[in-house]
Amino acid sequence: MTQHLVYPGSFDPVTRGHLDVITRASALCEKLTVLVTYNPQKQGMFSAEERASLIRRATRHLPNVAVDTWSGLLVDYPPLTEDAHLVKGLRTTTDFEYEMQMAQFNRAMKQVESLFLVTDPALSYISSTLVKEIAKYGGDISSFVVEEVESAIREKLNS
Ligand code: PNS
Repeated sequence: MTQHLVYPGSFDPVTRGHLDVITRASALCEKLTVLVTYNPQKQGMFSAEERASLIRRATRHLPNVAVDTWSGLLVDYPPLTEDAHLVKGLRTTTDFEYEMQMAQFNRAMKQVESLFLVTDPALSYISSTLVKEIAKYGGDISSFVVEEVESAIREKLNS
């Protein structure tokens, strides 16, 4: 039974596309953990804690959503070796090929199952990387991220 789903990603930062997956996945399970995975050697725009805090603020209306951070191998995240399964969003066929390979590795290593949600076509082009790039050039990012995330990006760019 799917009681606990884990939605992993870099979320640097969380977009409206991610939030759509979070909302839909949280309706399919008792508990959804959004897991910010990070590499301590790789610097993003936001620290893992900042990314987690932005997700917490954007999901405060969803009572069964928790947010956590993890810098190890994904399959070693303790709930995944207990009773949780992974959930990911699929935007494009490129995502599909990459995600399929990761899902196969994760299942081969620790029998961790992955479930996929097809993203809303109205949001499927959104990527954190391109949102940051548009913001750097002064473009309007308000349709791609929520207001708090937009302000946080602007603050980073101005600091
Ligand atoms: O949103 P992203 O950055 O595409 O998410 C990728 C993520 C976090 C799912 C992937 O990089 C990952 O699983 N990272 C943790 C390290 C790991 O387990 N790598 C092997 C994957 S088979």
